[in-house]
Amino acid sequence: MQEEKTYSPGLEGIIAARTAISFLDTEQEEIVIRGYNLLDLIQRAGYVEVVGLLLDQQIPDKQRQQEIEAEMVGSPVPDAIYAILRLLPSEMHAMDQLRTAVSALGGFDKEAGSTDPSSEKERAPRIIGQIAQMVANLTHVAQGREPQPFSPAYSFAENFLRVIVRREVSPPEVRAFEQSLIAYSEHELPNSTFAARVVASTLGDLYGALTAAVASLKGPLHGGANEAVMYMLLEAQNVEGMDKLIRQKLSRKERIMGFGHRVYMRRMDPRAQLLKEVLHQLIQAQGKGQEYLAMCQRGEDIMRSEKGLYPNLDYYAAPVYYLLGIPIELYTPIFFAARSAGLLAHIIEQHSENRLYRPRVLYTGPRGLQL
Ligand code: SDX
Repeated sequence: MQEEKTYSPGLEGIIAARTAISFLDTEQEEIVIRGYNLLDLIQRAGYVEVVGLLLDQQIPDKQRQQEIEAEMVGSPVPDAIYAILRLLPSEMHAMDQLRTAVSALGGFDKEAGSTDPSSEKERAPRIIGQIAQMVANLTHVAQGREPQPFSPAYSFAENFLRVIVRREVSPPEVRAFEQSLIAYSEHELPNSTFAARVVASTLGDLYGALTAAVASLKGPLHGGANEAVMYMLLEAQNVEGMDKLIRQKLSRKERIMGFGHRVYMRRMDPRAQLLKEVLHQLIQAQGKGQEYLAMCQRGEDIMRSEKGLYPNLDYYAAPVYYLLGIPIELYTPIFFAARSAGLLAHIIEQHSENRLYRPRVLYTGPRGLQL
């Protein structure tokens, strides 16, 4: 007789890891990152500082920040990676191209197979920088343009944005983009981070774990939502259109992308509120885009009154990226690049104190059949 085990669909409410990296405190409505409030980090820190915090378990001093940023900006992507990307069908989704590129990147790392936490920590800033450069060049390479490496003349965030949009970018644009990277950097144990830890728990290497995370994050129930939100806003075109479209979708029992969250349930994702302010500031700085804020607000109002649901981070990240001129299919790859810092911290932590993940099942099939 199968022992009585509590089966939790989707592992809802199950504690599946012990970590010192982050915690979603829904009681206090605080996202804790190594002891700091993520909202404080978004408002007052730089992305490189957050990378240092995630990897070193403390806010890096200026010298350590410079070391990390030099690795992130100065580590080239092997030409062979772009050669592989050129062989892929140009209509292949950017997340699928990225999944291939992340996996192939391991082939050019002599220590790829090492699961020694100190080796992984030492290599992490380089890998974060390489992933960002691959993401920044994905659509350019797919459309036949030459990839552009990051330059030590600019900060990591400015490099990342300017290589994507291939134009000079303003300080308010760079800051809005950097705040989105911090917002996306780490968020406890979402599906993609869990996927990475599951792979790492077999002593699989970090490239395999990161590749599993890319595959998971593409799903529209997870990271793919930010791209889907933008397509919804463009389909709606204006506030009345948004009202009509959302009500139509709800009447068809469809999910509205950008709303709901397994952990926040029927509460606002704290990051969404802050990204809404980032969107507002960007609109003020650029003097355009007010219509997107109004459309998003109408969507919020309908979902709260009709479904008791609130926006998640993706809902407001999408219009921020649109106003920055970022191609829509890069929204989720950017999410992955920003989250690579948190993912590497989790992979390193899993390799530091490992227990193989091997859950059980509640068997519902037949027994005792004879051939
Ligand atoms: C991210 O885990 C993380 O931290 C992820 C993330 C991170 O930083 O890593 O925060 C990033 O992935 C944010 C989530 C992005 N995804 C979306 O925006 C896609 C749309 N959202 C939903 O599919 C949904 O809200 C989930 C997947 C996010 C959460 O789903 P759950 O916890 O499995 O909830 P559920 O499907 O059981 O829904 C509960 C009820 C249902 O209604 P009933 O059937 O009980 O009547 O709420 C409804 C659902 O129909 N519902 C929605 C809805 N989300 C839930 N109805 C309409 N639109 C939605 N978006």
